[in-house]
Amino acid sequence: MVSDKTLSPGNNHQEGVAVWLTGLSGAGKTTISIPLCERLESMGYRVQRLDGDVVREKLTPDLGFTKEDRDKNIERVTFIAERLVRHGVITVCAFISPYRAERQYARGEIGRFVEVFVKCPLEVCEERDVKGLYAKARAGEIKNFTGISDPYEEPENAEMTVDTSQSTLEAEVDAIIGYLRENGYII
Ligand code: ADX
Repeated sequence: MVSDKTLSPGNNHQEGVAVWLTGLSGAGKTTISIPLCERLESMGYRVQRLDGDVVREKLTPDLGFTKEDRDKNIERVTFIAERLVRHGVITVCAFISPYRAERQYARGEIGRFVEVFVKCPLEVCEERDVKGLYAKARAGEIKNFTGISDPYEEPENAEMTVDTSQSTLEAEVDAIIGYLRENGYII
């Protein structure tokens, strides 16, 4: 159902939503988030992208990759995302966010929350190894590396799953836009 408040583009009554992309490093979260935001912007929506690599440089440079630090990372991001969403911004969050409980926390705090599991087999992520981090993790040069020496808890209640080893980027972005439209988050 599209409520009265939803969403003609640019309208001051726009209600925000967090599109929360979770998945392994190299699964394609950032790759999806960029054209997704561009599409939404071109439709007239206010959009903000929050990306793990950028957030960790600018907002949470004090944090590492222990469970405790990852939890803090997600809690700070959630704080920002909740406020953006409350003020009508479509907030696209791209974080490994490996722990179910933390994603659940983000969902509870933010409310309007669409969890997208960016699924990709570990072997494929490792073969892509875009940043060269899997090789370093295998060599033991990076500790607590998700999928290698640290857990990733797959979503059990994600609104959507996109499998980046099986589909095209365009189809994935289309699917997310389609979900947002069908569920009244955008028109
Ligand atoms: S999260 O677990 O706290 O959600 P986040 O998405 O912010 O992680 O950051 C992940 C990014 O940090 C990866 O894409 C990768 O570039 C980098 N990184 C560095 N060390 C690690 C590690 N030990 N595990 C996972 N990612 C790491």
